[in-house]
Amino acid sequence: MQKVAIKKMNMQASKVFLAELKVLTNVHHLNLVRLIGYAVEGSLSIVYEFIENGNLSQHLRDFSGREPLSWSSRMKIALDSARGLEYIHEHTNPAYIHRDIKSANILLDGNLRAKVADFGLTKLVEVGTGSLRTQLVGTFGYMSPEYSECGVLSTKIDVYAFGVVLYELISAREAVIEYSEDSTIAFDEDSTRAIALVAMFEEVMNQPNPSTDLQKMVDPRLGEDYPITSVCKIAQLAKACTLKNPVLRPSMR
Ligand SMILES: Nc1ncnc2c1ncn2[C@@H]1O[C@H](COP(=O)(O)OP(=O)(O)O)[C@@H](O)[C@H]1O
Ligand SMILES: [Mg+2]
Repeated sequence: MQKVAIKKMNMQASKVFLAELKVLTNVHHLNLVRLIGYAVEGSLSIVYEFIENGNLSQHLRDFSGREPLSWSSRMKIALDSARGLEYIHEHTNPAYIHRDIKSANILLDGNLRAKVADFGLTKLVEVGTGSLRTQLVGTFGYMSPEYSECGVLSTKIDVYAFGVVLYELISAREAVIEYSEDSTIAFDEDSTRAIALVAMFEEVMNQPNPSTDLQKMVDPRLGEDYPITSVCKIAQLAKACTLKNPVLRPSMR
């Protein structure tokens, strides 16, 4: 018997549902959650292979009885997710853009291998036509500036969001961090400000010698158990992925 996960959607989500189905039925890759089937009677349901170990966001921040992810596990997860994304960007025709890459949409199996999930927002993009303008969907904190400000859509918006995930893997922080302006004042909505994780890391990475301050950003649950040279490399990569100019960002490959 195979365990499955069933995602139910109301009728209004039918467009999203169809987009998700279209992508998943055509795409097969070790690092993408597999679609087993679907039902359209009554409410809409999508049946996925069950991925037993929860999502990456839970592993980084909601550790009820979970071991902290080691640095090497984090690197495998980054590489797995990159491979899944590379596949939809470069090996499907037409190319797909995921549009909602974030740690909650990266699932982990029993061996901590990562699979990209939640293709509901994905939209087909014709290869060769470059970017196109479209309705804004995605998650605050992961959205690239050209997309959130001008609605310009390309595979580079996934690269940007992937960069944010790399910063999450280093720091275990949320993509948007809320903080109190004045810590002596009670934490309420009026005194709350938010800063994007990207902005926080940018400040660190733009220093002439970022390594000391970068160390302060590392997830405390890693203890001393990480190679700082590797952390620096990943932070450099995340910085390249989150550059303002999408053309300057690397491809997923
Ligand atoms: N195939 C699956 N196996 C196990 N858990 C899953 C699976 N798909 C989704 N989940 C869990 O449900 C959550 C929400 O699923 P997702 O497809 O991202 O829907 P939503 O549109 O609500 O974001 C995921 O973050 C994950 O924790
Ligand atoms: Mg999701």
